[in-house]
Amino acid sequence: MSASREQFSSKLGFILAAAGSAVGIGNLVGFPVNAAKNGGGAFLIMYAIFVLLICLPVMIAEMAVGRKTQKEPVGAYKALSGGSRGWGIAGIFGVLTPFMIAVFYMVLTVWIFGYVALTLAGKLDYLASGNGFGEFINSPYLFVAMFAVAAIVNFILVAGVKEGIEKAAKVLMPTLFVMLLIMVIYVLTLENAFAGVKFFIIPDFDKITPSVINGALSQAFFSLSLGMGILITYGSYINNKTDIVNSAKLVALTDTAVAFTAGLMILPAVFSFNPNVNPAELSDSSVSLIFTFLPKIFLALQVSLGYIGASAVAAFFFLLVFFAAITSLVSIIEVPVSYLVTEKKHSRRKALSILMIIGGVLTVFAMVSFGMVSFFTEFTTYAGGTRSFFDVVYDIFYDTILPLNGFLLCVFVSYRWKKHNLSDELAIGNDNYKGSWVEKYVNFSLGTFIPVIVLGIFLNTVTQKFF
Ligand code: PHE
Repeated sequence: MSASREQFSSKLGFILAAAGSAVGIGNLVGFPVNAAKNGGGAFLIMYAIFVLLICLPVMIAEMAVGRKTQKEPVGAYKALSGGSRGWGIAGIFGVLTPFMIAVFYMVLTVWIFGYVALTLAGKLDYLASGNGFGEFINSPYLFVAMFAVAAIVNFILVAGVKEGIEKAAKVLMPTLFVMLLIMVIYVLTLENAFAGVKFFIIPDFDKITPSVINGALSQAFFSLSLGMGILITYGSYINNKTDIVNSAKLVALTDTAVAFTAGLMILPAVFSFNPNVNPAELSDSSVSLIFTFLPKIFLALQVSLGYIGASAVAAFFFLLVFFAAITSLVSIIEVPVSYLVTEKKHSRRKALSILMIIGGVLTVFAMVSFGMVSFFTEFTTYAGGTRSFFDVVYDIFYDTILPLNGFLLCVFVSYRWKKHNLSDELAIGNDNYKGSWVEKYVNFSLGTFIPVIVLGIFLNTVTQKFF
């Protein structure tokens, strides 16, 4: 392969691509539900503090490691640890985790794609009926949707960093912002919308329990795409003129702003559908919210808009979520692609073919975990319950290893690579960095309380999930 590494064309291109990774299903659906159920404004304040004080330093560190080494996680840990075997394992986690998270995220994206297609085909009433979702996720159409999504991801990634990832982000992200704003404005005009806004914004501090705090931090971590090696990999595609600290701030701000705005779309819609709804019982997961509850809300719009109008609003919404999901999916698959290209010297095309085959098989296993194939539906048991293959992937990689990766990164950067090297890297493109309080805060937090907190989340999850 060529010696020079491909790069984003500009800081804006990098920021949009990283924001494209960060803005995903987690922002548009996970965040609003989580926030509304868990204290509204109180959750929002806590979330913002976590983003600022805990996630941002981790994000900055990931980007710095990437740019310094010009490599993906395996290569980056190897390079900065002088080939240490132990840290090599951290690098392997850093590539395996995104690969496996891609499998479960792919399943969700395939479902969303299916919802776009079905609403456009006039099937909103079917999706809103009690059985629509259950039937759809066990139907052969799923495989058609999977091929379509895989083809889109492949199309973007094969074109490379600048022509693929960056271009897709430059088209899809602004489109997404505009679509989101249109949806918010529309939803706010619905009857009773304001009750939803109130519920989302007014703080209820009594709801803040240790498990809510834990959930808020995990949500922030996932939402900013941390611990997945993505920002190491994207960081390896930026040049020495880019100010990392400033870029990271903009990415975090965009991600948080989109999550907040999504709350102004989802909750007013929910309350307008049913003014007496108690969101605490709204839905046990964001998955059931998006796939079973929201279609009902959209269908209810037919009273004023007619069936076609209601279907159009639904299709618009699912397309918005789909765009967000695609830019996230692309970012996460880029990590193993970059690994195969940088470390294993395959061409991008070959790397993608390998990943599409292995990832495709695993995705099929995860897709048929919802009843289609009993072996995968009843894959294993732990903590007293039967778990599907999909559950296992989710529990191990998303819930458990993700915070572990965050912990390892903080320790690695602070004590192996060393803080003065981090400072040197961050001072590139930012003449005022050295000596600033931001530098002091980043160095101090990464070496002390951030790894402790993130390790706490890891241990908490392990004990709760598996024992
Ligand atoms: N940040 C994404 C979200 O909020 C999460 C994600 C990113 C998942 C990249 C997979 C890949 O949905």
